[in-house]
Parts: sequence; structure tokens; C-alpha cells
Amino acid sequence: MPPVQVSKICCIGAGYVGGPTCAVIAFKCPHISVTIVDLNQARIDAWNSSDFKLPIYEPGLVDVVKHARGRNLFFSTDVDKAIQEADLIFVSVNTPTKKSGVGAGFAADLNYVELATRRIAAVAHSSKIVVEKSTVPCRTAESMRTILEANSRPGCRFDILSNPEFLAEGTAIEDLLAPDRVLIGSLQTPDGLNACESLANVYANWVPKERVLTVGLWSSELSKLAANAMLAQRISSINALSAICEATGANIDEVAHAIGFDSRIGPKFLRASVGFGGSCFQKDILNLVYLSESLHLPQVAAYWRQVVEMNEYQKSRFSKTVVDTLFNTITGKHIAVLGFAFKADTGDTRESPAISLVRDFLSERAYVTIYDPQVEEAQIWLDLSEACPLVPLETIKKQVTIASSALDACKNMEAVVIATEWKEFREINWDSVYKNMNKPAFVFDGRMLVDADALRAIGFKVKVIGRGERV
Ligand SMILES: NC(=O)c1ccc[n+]([C@@H]2O[C@H](COP(=O)([O-])OP(=O)(O)OC[C@H]3O[C@@H](n4cnc5c(N)ncnc54)[C@H](O)[C@@H]3O)[C@@H](O)[C@H]2O)c1
Repeated sequence: MPPVQVSKICCIGAGYVGGPTCAVIAFKCPHISVTIVDLNQARIDAWNSSDFKLPIYEPGLVDVVKHARGRNLFFSTDVDKAIQEADLIFVSVNTPTKKSGVGAGFAADLNYVELATRRIAAVAHSSKIVVEKSTVPCRTAESMRTILEANSRPGCRFDILSNPEFLAEGTAIEDLLAPDRVLIGSLQTPDGLNACESLANVYANWVPKERVLTVGLWSSELSKLAANAMLAQRISSINALSAICEATGANIDEVAHAIGFDSRIGPKFLRASVGFGGSCFQKDILNLVYLSESLHLPQVAAYWRQVVEMNEYQKSRFSKTVVDTLFNTITGKHIAVLGFAFKADTGDTRESPAISLVRDFLSERAYVTIYDPQVEEAQIWLDLSEACPLVPLETIKKQVTIASSALDACKNMEAVVIATEWKEFREINWDSVYKNMNKPAFVFDGRMLVDADALRAIGFKVKVIGRGERV
């Protein structure tokens, strides 16, 4: 049998991955009808909004959606209909770290994947290619296949593929339009290889053939966890070195530059910071830790766990620097936190280091003013409530103010903390910030964003992560 020519795609999950990924497929493949479905009505309404106020912020996303929506790109809450009509289904639902039960705090919660899989089995009338897009532990595809086979109607067959997503938030559209690679894992059977070719043919509409890598199912699943673990490990490594720089007077910029020249190391992802965040790095490493422990490999588990521990250390070390520098107390002091998203060019705050910093400042009884160009106010309150579960939101609100511009946020503050590397923070009028701050005026740069010497010339006391100077 020749591979199926895909003409209708359904994507279950209209989040940070499903939305941009399948919008780009629709954009690049006008002959394929793509329907992205979600149970969350508000999210779907936002994707369908007439003013294109989409539920997630990604540079370039609005243009892609404007181009394809209504042509061959649709957003809907009618999950069953989209499943029934599709010949290929992406499962792109969330897989957060389990909060309770076996593996709590480490293992991935596969409940959403399982519910979506069971829904496919329950409503499909015809054969489907089911693609695992969510990041999942090794061998999840096998569980999905077992569920599908046990619950399918006669005559319906399901081929399972693993096609992990490597996009980075903030550059998602760029990454999707010109991916480093697309990875497709399949069973190495004739049917499995056929299904793999069907999906590869979809990507062939814009991705060069040599960038589409086809491997076995389990290798594909593990590769996604491995890629995130290696990326996060690089950040924790440079952050560990930043602590040494601060203690010795070395400069982490110079160290990163010097080591990055080694072609075996390379210059990317060597930027010290207040720590990594986002929905994936920590979750996927913890998942790898859990997998290693389940496989009775405690030394391997301990190795990867340390990457997360170093990240926690980096965040608390930065909070401590702020307290120490502000004469060992920030009680009653006013601190502006610039940036709340976990990185620039996204409105996503999941595991954002800014949350930990604000939580630490609040526990020291400081007053905090937050500004972020993309994060919604309601999201900030939600994150702070979750970070301080024992403190009522009303009490938090007495200590925290949300500002509508960076300049407003910095007025009458003792210190400014840069938590996210938004470009606009580099371009602030620091002269007027200085005029409106209490003196001495401190800047703590957790992202190596500002020109520290220029700020010092204005009169600021400046601390930059990874630099050993005294303020
Ligand atoms: N965010 C990233 O940068 C990124 C990158 C690569 C991979 N991933 C992985 O992709 C997956 C999705 O991540 P995300 O950031 O898009 O998550 P998300 O939480 O933004 O989106 C998931 C969506 O799935 C919906 N959903 C859950 N169960 C459903 C069901 N049964 N039917 C219909 N809709 C359902 C939810 O309502 C939600 O809108 C995760 O496994 C994640 O690890 C994320």
C-alpha cells in the first residue's frame, strides 16, 4: 500500500505548541485542511478573535494566522468532528509534572494524553495516523497504541508516530519555518514506515529532505528529553561558572566568549542568567530523572537532577545578592522587577525565574512593582498566589503593584531588578529612571542586558550576574 496522502489534519491542543505548529503547517500547505481543537472555549475564541488578539504571543504568529485562518486553518471546540474528518491527528496536549501519586514531582502526568487518545478511539470511524507531538516519556507511544487497538471499531487501524517539537518559545515561528531538524519516530514495520512517509511528505512542503530525520519510536521519544536536558545542562554549567566569576572578579561574558570559540563547544546557549524557566526544561529533566530511577540507574538520575538543583541555586543566589547589596535588608524597601515572562518575546510565565524572585522579595517584606510588556495582569496574580500558597491574594496585593510601563515601575524605587531580557529594557531612558529613583539607586541585571558602565556613569550602583565587580 502506498503512503496515505494527508489532506485533513486535526491537532488536539491549541496551546503554545499545537497552535503555532499547525498554523505553520496550514500556512505552508494550502492543499491541507488543518483544524486545531481544544476543550478550552476561551482559548479557541481568542484564536478566532476578529482583532487577532491570539491567546499566545509569538513574533510573526499573527501574520501566519491572518494568512491561513478561514482558508485552510480552523479553530474549534468540536473535538469529535475534527477527529472523525482527519486522516492525521497531532496529539499536542499538556504533559505537566505530576503533582500527586506515584512519581509526584518528577514523572509526567499523562492523563491528558490518555484522555485525548481514548477520545480518538471512541469517535474515529476510519483509520488514522496518530502523531504524538507532546513531550512524553519513552514508550508512551506503545501505551497509546494499546489503548487505540483495544478500543477501536472494526476496520479502523491506527499508526502511531512520534514527532516531538523542538521549537523555542519567542522564536517559534522562525523555528517552525526553518527548523534545524524535524524528527519522526515510527515502528520499523512496513505500516509504520508508510505512516512515517505520509508525515514526512507534509513537512516536505517546506523543509529540506535532509533535515527530516526518521528514527525508531523510542529513540524519537528519548531524543526530545535528551535535547532539553543537554540544553538546560549548558545553562546550568555557565551559571555555575558565573558564581565562580562573581567570587573571583572574573567576567562570565569573557569566559563564555573564550570557551565558545572552541568549535567543539560553540558559542550558543552560553549566556549566564538568573536561571532557566519555561514549561519544558525542568519538567523534561525531572522526567529523565524519573526514567533513570525507574531503570535502576541512580547515578544517572543524580547527574541530571543536579542540573535542576543548580538552577534553583542560581535563582536563590540572585535574590540573596539583592538583599546583601541593599545593606542586608529589603524590609519596607521598594523594588521594581522588570520582566515577568520566563524569557523575552513570549507572554509565557511557566516556571519563570521572576516568580521566584518576587516570592523571595515578598517573604523579606519588600514592596514590589512589576512590569512586563506581554504578561497579563491576571496571570501575574495567579502565579504569585501559587508561589505563595499560604498568603491570601489580598495580602499579596498590598505588597505588589503592577505597572503599565518600565518607567512607571521604576519611580520612587530603591532598586530595579531585570528579570527578563526584553529588548525595551535596554532602551529605557535610564537618565530619567535615575532621576525618579530613591538614592542610592541600584540596578541588578539578571540577564546581562544593560550597559553597566553607562549606567554607572549616570550614578547607578550596578550588579550584573557573573561579574565580580563591587558596587
Ligand atoms: N511550550 C513549549 O515551548 C514546548 C516545546 C516543545 C514541546 N512542548 C510539549 O508540547 C506539549 C504541549 O505543550 P504546550 O506548551 O502547548 O501546552 P499548553 O498547556 O499551552 O496547551 C495544551 C492544550 O491542550 C488542551 N487539552 C488538554 N487535553 C485536551 C483534550 N483532551 N482535548 C482537547 N484539548 C486538550 C489544553 O486545554 C491546552 O490548551 C507538552 O507535552 C510540552 O511538553 C512544549
